[in-house]
Amino acid sequence: MRRHLVLITGASSGIGKALAREFAANGWDLALTARRKDRLEALAEEIKAQYGVDSLVIAADLSKASAPKKVIDAVEAEGRQIDGLVNNAGFGLPGTYTQTSWKQQADFLQLMLGSYAELVHRVMPGMQARGYGRILNVASVAGLMPGSKGHTLYAAVKSALIKFSQSLHFEGKEYGIHATALCPGFTYSEFHDVNETRDLVSKMPSYWWLTAEQVAEAGYNAVQRNQPISVPGLWYKFLTGLNQVLPTPASMWMMERSTGSVRRGEVEPASPAAGD
Ligand SMILES: NC(=O)c1ccc[n+]([C@@H]2O[C@H](COP(=O)([O-])OP(=O)(O)OC[C@H]3O[C@@H](n4cnc5c(N)ncnc54)[C@H](OP(=O)(O)O)[C@@H]3O)[C@@H](O)[C@H]2O)c1
Repeated sequence: MRRHLVLITGASSGIGKALAREFAANGWDLALTARRKDRLEALAEEIKAQYGVDSLVIAADLSKASAPKKVIDAVEAEGRQIDGLVNNAGFGLPGTYTQTSWKQQADFLQLMLGSYAELVHRVMPGMQARGYGRILNVASVAGLMPGSKGHTLYAAVKSALIKFSQSLHFEGKEYGIHATALCPGFTYSEFHDVNETRDLVSKMPSYWWLTAEQVAEAGYNAVQRNQPISVPGLWYKFLTGLNQVLPTPASMWMMERSTGSVRRGEVEPASPAAGD
């Protein structure tokens, strides 16, 4: 019998790369996509040697509206069906809302929301027909907390992904499809280099930090168990739980204070910032 195949976006780095290793370790074949093809090919080779599973490599820029269909077509052209989808590709725009161009914001929305929604829309009918599917949307604790100053659409998009995943969770139930929103907090990856906050976030205490491997393991287990939301790490379970019971003005006050104190450098520095 052929192994299941999972399509993973943003597999060239960080959480996506760790999720590729996690699915491979659990016997899945992979379709890996991101813009940096050389990295995907190196990962595919490493995974083949370590776990003996096969990977398709598809280079694509998912901020382009035509890309999701092309990625699915490329998998199907190899005669493979998609049993799992990990929507993970993403980045954060530095600065406040008006410090960026509309083009940057529009590309951000297309990548972080448009491509996620379209990929699910394209793969879910096949999953329904076969009575099996796994959909993991990488959101963030930012989607469970108040918005903050800067990275303005980020929390809004992540919040939308959580609601989207909850709806998919209900819609998938009768078809054997599991859907989960994975909500990591600060995770060692290239994310904070890309969004130019490495200096700022390196002041965060070490207990705020997760490894990409921790996040990937939590995400894989959660989607297998059909948990609608997964928040890796005790600290973030506490923070998001507290946010649910606090009145909104109190949680907004705490958000303003904590981001302010990090910016002023009043918190202890974290242990060395790693990157994958
Ligand atoms: N790190 C954190 O603290 C953290 C916390 C919560 C949630 N998250 C979420 O986790 C996800 C993964 O982030 P990460 O931390 O692993 O960051 P990362 O190391 O920077 O990885 C981001 C991935 O997204 C891909 N990507 C970016 N722009 C793309 C585009 N236009 N088209 C296709 N692929 C693109 C990158 O590949 P290429 O550059 O090769 O295209 C890379 O593989 C994101 O959705 C992020 O919002 C991260």
